[in-house]
Amino acid sequence: MKKILRAAAWAVGVLVVLVIAAGCTLYFMSQRRLDRKWTVAAHAVTLSTDSLALARGRHLAVAISKCGDCHGADFGGAQFIDEPPVARLWATNLTRGRGGIGAAYSDLDWERAIRHAVRPNGDGLLFMPSLEFQWLTDEDLAALIAYLKSVPPVDRESVPNRIGPIGRALYMKGDLVLVPAEQVNHETHPAAVPMAVSVEYGRYLANVGGCTGCHGPTLSGGQIPGTPPDWKAAANLTPAGIGHYKEEDFFRALREGMRPGDVPIDTLMPVKATKLMTDDEIRAVWLYLKTVPSKPFGGR
Ligand code: HEC
Ligand code: HEC
Repeated sequence: MKKILRAAAWAVGVLVVLVIAAGCTLYFMSQRRLDRKWTVAAHAVTLSTDSLALARGRHLAVAISKCGDCHGADFGGAQFIDEPPVARLWATNLTRGRGGIGAAYSDLDWERAIRHAVRPNGDGLLFMPSLEFQWLTDEDLAALIAYLKSVPPVDRESVPNRIGPIGRALYMKGDLVLVPAEQVNHETHPAAVPMAVSVEYGRYLANVGGCTGCHGPTLSGGQIPGTPPDWKAAANLTPAGIGHYKEEDFFRALREGMRPGDVPIDTLMPVKATKLMTDDEIRAVWLYLKTVPSKPFGGR
């Protein structure tokens, strides 16, 4: 009996040591990747501060690219993920107030952070959706930066970021884009896309508007990256998912958060932003969605 107990105690001890060793390995390997420094060539955009550019910048920040969803409606910074086993992430105060980056950032710094997810000191930004924003045209990016530089300063100190063990495991497994700089194309710059009710402009809006960020690169839906499993999955926007929609149904979904048959869409879908999209923008996205290949739910 004693022998068996002793053997069992040994087995438990070995197991504990193995788990601790695996935890440490995970921590150090992920930390090495998180600590990587990035060098990105400077790319200047020409800012204009006329009222048209500022209004365009505000529309991009609020209705299209939804910066305020994470950085706070006043852009003064906010805790936007607070799931300690996965991550606690604070989206930076973007204003010129105390605790904000606005006063210190040059225009080149803004470009590098938004399109490349890289800080002025070369650190890769965590979870900042630059995989989508890398497609912003120079003109739109300039308008966005000009607008953000014009917002009232907010004094709000940031809260340190922490990546928990599940977050690190998902990251190392390749299931979580924690450091977007690893996947952004740092070499090329997007071509201008004419603003029109066209498939091409609709594709542009679906990218920089984050539809692909939540509904997936093929828009076929699935669990939104980084969200807990009990959160609603994003819907399938390919013909297999919303092929039954008519144009007016699509307008109603984006403006009122209602599906055909008066079925409400979960509030994870950012209707408070999409309802501010112009008629022409919604029409362009609609035209584009009709051209994407049909995929089963979550299909690549
Ligand atoms: C899904 C959430 C999310 C959205 C949407 C988002 N950001 Fe961020 N952003 C973050 C997080 C998180 C950080 C901080 C990352 C870090 O600390 O490593 C960040 C960092 C930044 C930084 C770098 C600040 C610094 O700490 O040096 C800038 C600039 C920025 N975001 C601008 C924008 C702009 C402009 C938009 C809209 C076009 C936007 N962000 C939309 C999550 C988001
Ligand atoms: C922050 C994540 C997020 C973003 C960004 C987002 N969506 Fe959604 N969307 C969702 C989720 C989650 C659902 C499913 C909610 C549910 O099942 O009730 C959804 C549902 C929908 C639906 C309803 C589909 C159906 O099954 O009837 C439409 C249409 C839609 N989204 C279009 C868009 C478009 C177009 C964009 C870009 C302009 C967009 N979404 C951006 C999360 C998002």
